[in-house]
Amino acid sequence: MTTTHDQLSTSVEVGGIGHSVRRAEDARFIQGAGNYLDDVKLPGMLHMAILRSPVAHAKILSIDTADALALPGVVAVITGADLEGYNLAWMPTLSGDTQAVLATDKVRFQGQEVAAVIAEDPYTAEDALALIFVDYDDLPAVTNPRQAMAEGAPVIRDDKEGKTDNSVYHWEAGDKELTDRAFAEADLVVSLDTHYPRSHPAPLETCGAVADVNPATGKATIYLTSQAPHAHRTLFALVAGLPEQNIRIISPDIGGGFGNKVPIYPGYVVATAASLVIGKPVKWVETRTENLISTGFARDYHMHGELAVSKEGRILGMRTHLWSDQGAFYADAQPTKFRAGLFHICTGSYDFPAAHVVADGAYTNKAPGGVAYRCSFRVTEASYIIERLAQNAAYELGMDPAEFRMKNFIRPEQFPYHSPTGFVYDSGDYHTALQKALDAVDYPNLLKEQEEARKQGRYLGIGIASFTEVVGAGNSRDYDIAGLKMFDSAELRIHPTGKAILKLGVKSQGQGHETTFAQIVANELGIPVTDIAVIEGDTDNTPYGLGTYASRSTPVGGAATAVIARQLREKARRLAAHLLEASDEDLEWEPGRFYIKGAPEKGVTIQDVAFAAYTNMPDGMEPGLEGVHYYDPPNMTYPFGSYVVVVEVDPETGVWEVERMIAVDDCGVRINPMIVEGQITGGLTEGFAKANMQWITFDNDGNCIGSNFMDYLIPTAWETPRFELDETVTPSPHHPIGAKGVGESATVGSPAAYVNAVIDALRPFGITNIDMPVLPHRVWSAIREAQAR
Ligand code: CDP
Repeated sequence: MTTTHDQLSTSVEVGGIGHSVRRAEDARFIQGAGNYLDDVKLPGMLHMAILRSPVAHAKILSIDTADALALPGVVAVITGADLEGYNLAWMPTLSGDTQAVLATDKVRFQGQEVAAVIAEDPYTAEDALALIFVDYDDLPAVTNPRQAMAEGAPVIRDDKEGKTDNSVYHWEAGDKELTDRAFAEADLVVSLDTHYPRSHPAPLETCGAVADVNPATGKATIYLTSQAPHAHRTLFALVAGLPEQNIRIISPDIGGGFGNKVPIYPGYVVATAASLVIGKPVKWVETRTENLISTGFARDYHMHGELAVSKEGRILGMRTHLWSDQGAFYADAQPTKFRAGLFHICTGSYDFPAAHVVADGAYTNKAPGGVAYRCSFRVTEASYIIERLAQNAAYELGMDPAEFRMKNFIRPEQFPYHSPTGFVYDSGDYHTALQKALDAVDYPNLLKEQEEARKQGRYLGIGIASFTEVVGAGNSRDYDIAGLKMFDSAELRIHPTGKAILKLGVKSQGQGHETTFAQIVANELGIPVTDIAVIEGDTDNTPYGLGTYASRSTPVGGAATAVIARQLREKARRLAAHLLEASDEDLEWEPGRFYIKGAPEKGVTIQDVAFAAYTNMPDGMEPGLEGVHYYDPPNMTYPFGSYVVVVEVDPETGVWEVERMIAVDDCGVRINPMIVEGQITGGLTEGFAKANMQWITFDNDGNCIGSNFMDYLIPTAWETPRFELDETVTPSPHHPIGAKGVGESATVGSPAAYVNAVIDALRPFGITNIDMPVLPHRVWSAIREAQAR
């Protein structure tokens, strides 16, 4: 369904929901007038650089800072021993573990923070790092979870009292007994072992902080590349022992986050401690390599999956076991209850009664991982395993993969649908989305074309993925991060002249919140979008919220915005009644105006009403037109979609080219169709990167291969395929405007579609799996091995 102009409730001038309003924020971005962290320059500001470990695992025997301190322009050199004096050498992580701020006893990954130099300029700070001498005593490195869990593996976290192995957690979801029974009754069990490789969100702007602790007032103003400024303020208060009212976090414009800017990094803490002690502002900005080797990695799941199916092609049950490589510190940002994120959404778009998930997290000598890189916690990995298994199950049954999916999809009338691992899907129409995608490629003809091509020795492949995501954490009963319940907030103030300011607990990193959240207000109150300012990212001036990640802004912050706008409209109604000398019930509303029932010419605009709220309110009414709402969602939202990819594989080189990529997405009601398409295009590009070229690897000594954009590949316009986008619209029944999140859908859903297409092309060789990234040499080797069999 495409939104037609007639269905819009507001005019182009007002620009409410459904209008492709141009992004308000772009005016400053395209003029180079954004205000990013590195643009912050304060009087007397000092600069910090961090010395990082060159090795993955070693004891620190000594650190000699004398030469660095003697360099002119160096103000201080800080080590873990110095921080110990302030009880700051270790800090808590978002997942309840501890992480070294500056290493004291051992280094546990290559790139770990060992010392910091504070200097008058950034160049001197950087030069001084070379003058610090650290004596390391190397230890063997552990670089994957199976090695970590093996008998006799070196214990990485020997700082933890009584720790004798590298296990971080063991976690299960679903019903084991029921699932075992389903497997016992199955005609066929299809299995897959695969690795979802370690990757990095790699935002264009790296992480950084400018800490400004005023020695006279004790007020700490911390500019931070933070996706969650309020949560970070609370955690800063708890870690540093500063009174929370004296901490102000300001997240300026952010050049991409994708989950990378959710954790608290040691650099933030050291810069703040340095400013506190020295009494001057301290700036720290990571280099590209620092960002790529030490901050917030994602994925790195070794997965075993099994589907139990009947000979008629019905899924009966699913089993997965995964081994998660957590790195040296368990610093995931994910709800406390769910150790493997929301991986247990792995039953996907299908209706079957039994599933069981087992997850084991392990410490390794790698940087901390597990951030929700453009996905709702671990939903990307979940979507990948089920969609790869579904494709392979269809092949083993001799069924068409599209038909297999259609047969097993949850049917529209089954919503709200209770999944076997405990989710309640809000709404969906999976058959229509897949049919639309199949129609777009003319599936029956495409199958014939594929057969013809095979006869000519050409390897065309068709890959399908029909994903279901879960986004919009909480509700607060089930979802918290570091104990902070997951809700979000909106504060709306309408000024006397009818212009409005909306303040939010979420924080955009480029998603266009200044435009879309203004559109929600415009839709509810009829105030033109151009008259609404949206403010985010300043903890002194916005209401408390858990921040922006896991596509939660629209489901939670967007809902809070709609609710507060509706509450103000009710007060506006009472004011309008006063102005029109009528009773509330006698008034009708049209966007931007109240009028008397049956006499549409007798009315007042929202602007008239706003003026009256400050100049002419009825006796007994509180002046003003403003309010704040904290929204605790009743459920998550479940966006979905179907992607169909057509590829051609060159068997001589292993290179594969995408011929077509059709993406039918359903994120419920679209606030701004242009922005939604932008989000999907970006997500499909990142999904393609995962499938085609992108990963971060480590050698056996724990050296990170992928510390720059020559090794860690980001697709440019040259490599990126052309995407053909379409939509269905299935509103979320519990969201005030029917919207679901969208930012991450395409990254979650698309990798399996690309890989399924390559595997489909290689069916004549009997190849059933190639791990991501599906690099040409992997394809080539798989073909050669198959031919040798
Ligand atoms: O939390 P995050 O902003 O990353 O993700 P999101 O809530 O999925 O929103 C991404 C962007 O798309 C925001 O500007 C949203 O307001 C917009 N959007 C939309 O216009 N309509 C939707 N149904 C969902 C998101």
